[in-house]
Amino acid sequence: MSRLQAEHLYKVFGRRPEDAVRKLEAGASRDELRSEGTTAAVIDASIEVDEGQIFVVMGLSGSGKSTLLRTLNGLLEPTAGTVRFDGQDLTSLSDKELRKVRSQKISMVFQHFALFPHRSVLENAGYGLEVQGVPRAERERRATEALELTGLKGWEKSWPDELSGGMQQRVGLARALATDADLLLMDESFSALDPLIRRDMQDQLLELQKTLMKTIVFITHDLNEAMRLGDRIAVMRDGRIVQIGSAEDILVTPANDYVASFTQDVDRTRVLTAGAIMADTDTVFGTTTAQGKKIGTAEEFLAAAPATARVDTPIAELFTPCSTSTVPVAVTDERGEVLGAVPAGRLLAVLGEPKKQEPPAPAAQAPENGHRSADRDPEGKVIAGA
Ligand SMILES: Nc1ncnc2c1ncn2[C@@H]1O[C@H](COP(=O)(O)OP(=O)(O)OP(=O)(O)O)[C@@H](O)[C@H]1O
Ligand SMILES: [Mg+2]
Repeated sequence: MSRLQAEHLYKVFGRRPEDAVRKLEAGASRDELRSEGTTAAVIDASIEVDEGQIFVVMGLSGSGKSTLLRTLNGLLEPTAGTVRFDGQDLTSLSDKELRKVRSQKISMVFQHFALFPHRSVLENAGYGLEVQGVPRAERERRATEALELTGLKGWEKSWPDELSGGMQQRVGLARALATDADLLLMDESFSALDPLIRRDMQDQLLELQKTLMKTIVFITHDLNEAMRLGDRIAVMRDGRIVQIGSAEDILVTPANDYVASFTQDVDRTRVLTAGAIMADTDTVFGTTTAQGKKIGTAEEFLAAAPATARVDTPIAELFTPCSTSTVPVAVTDERGEVLGAVPAGRLLAVLGEPKKQEPPAPAAQAPENGHRSADRDPEGKVIAGA
């Protein structure tokens, strides 16, 4: 059961927003509304996020990412639609109830996290707890723990201006973690950081998430960041979610040309991971090695596999082992348990461009661009008749 659910969310800015929603439902376009002076920032967005998941929202500037995020915690009241967290309908709460839910269950981390310059790092990290009315001793204990989690142990007594930009952003993350909020909403949280520190923060978030199991919605316009962090990725365009899927779905079966254009320059071998493309181990059991050995158990598979990989191993590292054996590469967890198998065929399949047609025969005109141009619904299914 997903912890966060948003259903048919709309957010329209401008005059008579409810009328605009009715027009949108009846098929009006965003541009038609704009000519009437209203901005449809979020149109019919539905998402579900499970505990422990990082749900990434990606899209060009102005596509509605921040607005969507703000409707999720009630900072903006949706014009239509519902948001539920742990089954509680946030859209039906009074302002006071909503503030309480926000201070206890939801934390936001922004791109430029505003720290209080005249408070120590520890006080800054404990600020969310202060708002909740948590007594000082407990506040300091929990803020200290959160700073340790984000790699800032030893900096508690420093002032914000003694920290680098990356460290300040960590304090922002620590503040969000200290409150024990289960839902983290992160809006371009790492975008202002330089590439190495940014990667570091991404690693740290992934590492923290393994144990903290928060429910995270993370906004970025950076495809590589989306691919690294996202268990699920939603791509927004002009207020609408045009596709929701795993990194692999987005790369291999883009819903339309807009999504495809986002991903066209990506080096798939570096972005796609063994975990994203692995097949079930059942597909290996019952097969035989080139030497005639039967593979019937995980142990036999491990013994015969040309190499082992982890779920986050980029597939770039699998080509050489795959080329040396008919047995797939084994994907294992940190304890060495087998999770899946990557056969050579699968490696090739995910690298294939969406099917290009043969040069058209004189009579028949081949459709342009193969299946990429087919319309699909956001979950990736081709819409019948489109
Ligand atoms: N308070 C507001 N009043 C009127 N229009 C708004 C308001 N906030 C956002 N918009 C409009 O809604 C649309 C979506 O904006 P939003 O900030 O959600 O985009 P975004 O995807 O977060 O973009 P960016 O990547 O630049 O942060 C834009 O057209 C913007 O002008
Ligand atoms: Mg934004």
